[in-house]
Amino acid sequence: MKVTVVGAGNVGATCANCIAEKDIVSEVVLLDIKEGIAEGKALDMWQTAPINLYDTRIKGVTNDYSATADSEVVVITSGLPRKPGMSRDDLISTNAGIVKSVTENVIKFSPDAKIIIVSNPLDVMCYCAYLAAKIDSSRVFGMAGVLDTARYRAFLAETLNVSPKDIQALLLGGHGDTMVPLPRYTSVGGIPVTELIEKDKLHAIIERTKVGGGELVKLMGTSAWYAPGAAAAQMVEAIIRDQHRVFPVCALLNGEYGMKNIYLGVPVVLGKNGIEKIIEVKLDTEEQELLATSAKAVRSVMDVLDNMKMF
Ligand code: NAI
Ligand code: 2OP
Repeated sequence: MKVTVVGAGNVGATCANCIAEKDIVSEVVLLDIKEGIAEGKALDMWQTAPINLYDTRIKGVTNDYSATADSEVVVITSGLPRKPGMSRDDLISTNAGIVKSVTENVIKFSPDAKIIIVSNPLDVMCYCAYLAAKIDSSRVFGMAGVLDTARYRAFLAETLNVSPKDIQALLLGGHGDTMVPLPRYTSVGGIPVTELIEKDKLHAIIERTKVGGGELVKLMGTSAWYAPGAAAAQMVEAIIRDQHRVFPVCALLNGEYGMKNIYLGVPVVLGKNGIEKIIEVKLDTEEQELLATSAKAVRSVMDVLDNMKMF
């Protein structure tokens, strides 16, 4: 079984490495447009196999889509990352063209692939890839919620001094500062989080989560890659191993949560066919309002894509 990762930059290379270390596929193909970079990183990673004890072969290629043929899953990370002072939405003019052309190439060689988008602005890049791929939306979706909940869970684990393994959480909406972490759906070893932490501390953690990507951009001058790469790899594993994992995923809504024709983060069941089910949880009035605000922010970026007249 083969998985392709497009974009051998920070996130793509980390994701490919995480997938290889899981030892769940026979081959990972890493593709980049920059001559030699994917080949070099793939070779370097493959030389960790005797140390980290896996069999997955990693092959790097420069823009050669024939090497990606018949991939089960393709992760698209190609595109510019944020610089300090930029929002994810500032990336659209460059990244939409990249995501469109990459998706068209990917689907030509792997017509049955499940496509996971990582490039930003995430929700709108998912929509762009969906329009370019012309396949069912159950096979085109985005990674954001797994990362954003991981940040939320990590902050909670630190504050409560408990294992991050025991924190379950849900987060809805766009991958931007309007994302909607849901304390009512957050638990620690089965105990509602609201019983374990003061309201103001929880509020501070939620606010930090919303700008979690920006916090890292400020520190590093570019966006994060370890957690994003690991998050995308966890989604790949759920598909390859048909795990039916329940993750927050950026999915096309067709009436769910009262919305249509928009990609937004919602809980889904992820298995070998991609999105097997979108789960609709009950929201109170405040949560509904927050989700509507997040959808409005995503729609405004969708308008920018529409005005680019690419489709
Ligand atoms: P990076 O700059 O390190 O890597 C991007 C790679 O894409 C480069 O190696 C570049 O040569 C390659 N590329 C550009 N055009 C290409 C094309 N047409 N075909 C193949 N490869 C191409 O950037 P990084 O940090 O890896 O981030 C990648 C994207 O992921 C950015 O848009 C970033 O904003 C996004 N991101 C999304 C996250 C999420 O939660 N969804 C989290 C972190 C990053
Ligand atoms: C992140 O959340 C910038 O989307 C990227 O780290």
